[in-house]
Amino acid sequence: MRLDGKVAIITGGASGIGRATVHKFVREGAKVLVADIDLARAEQVVAEVEDAGFAGAAAAVAVDVSVFADVEAMVARAVEIFGAVHVIFNNAGIAGGAPLLEHDPAVDYEPMIRVDQHGVYYGILAAGRQMAKQGAGGVIISTSSVYGEQAAELSFTYSAAKAAVISFTRSAAYELAEHGIRAVAITPGRVATPIINQFSQELRDTFASEQLRGRLTEPEEIADVVAFLASDESRVINGTVVSVEDGYSV
Ligand code: NAI
Repeated sequence: MRLDGKVAIITGGASGIGRATVHKFVREGAKVLVADIDLARAEQVVAEVEDAGFAGAAAAVAVDVSVFADVEAMVARAVEIFGAVHVIFNNAGIAGGAPLLEHDPAVDYEPMIRVDQHGVYYGILAAGRQMAKQGAGGVIISTSSVYGEQAAELSFTYSAAKAAVISFTRSAAYELAEHGIRAVAITPGRVATPIINQFSQELRDTFASEQLRGRLTEPEEIADVVAFLASDESRVINGTVVSVEDGYSV
């Protein structure tokens, strides 16, 4: 029960990595606010948690992380339901892209920057303020990507947003250390979630072959690391990137 007594917000908690992390956190003793733009699926995850025997350990909230007022309301809701915020996992994100010279900025740049970059900034700001006010520290974990550290096909905007997540993490750790708040970014490679499942089997096989174990990472394997990062056991990990890429870049 490494997260006993902790309250966590997980954005993008309705699916994939976020959903697996909700389940892991609850098993580790946390109370979790499942925050997602898709409220129906977030509520489904809460129902799964209850079916697993953890009634009252999770609640759902609708949030569009690209809207600051929504993110502030999400943090306020966590405090209203569970009394505090100790951990935020800024994980909601969208993927996809087009060749650079074919970009329509209104389609291929602005929406993704709003969700994948602004959304993480808003989460750090709103949850950081709440944690500082509580005066008992906290942990901010944000999902970047291997593409945050390298160029890749069709990833011009995604790479920029995910690189910003790494920069935000460093700066947040630097600025919030005086409040006992840590910040960590994770960089997944190829994880078997709906973001990946939208591609053809052939492409998924190629993705799997790019990782050293020759298979896609399961979202539960990422959740195991996120639970460690949210716990005091990882207290010396701060302001850095934790690679969860299954050997993708070796
Ligand atoms: P997913 O598609 O299963 O989950 C993403 C969740 O974010 C969905 O539930 C979706 O409704 C939610 N979401 C999207 N826009 C939102 C918004 N504006 N406000 C609130 N919620 C919103 O995908 P997955 O794979 O679990 O992705 C989670 C994170 O991991 C994303 O940031 C993604 O970029 C990142 N990632 C995923 C990789 C993969 O291979 N699956 C690899 C590297 C990074």
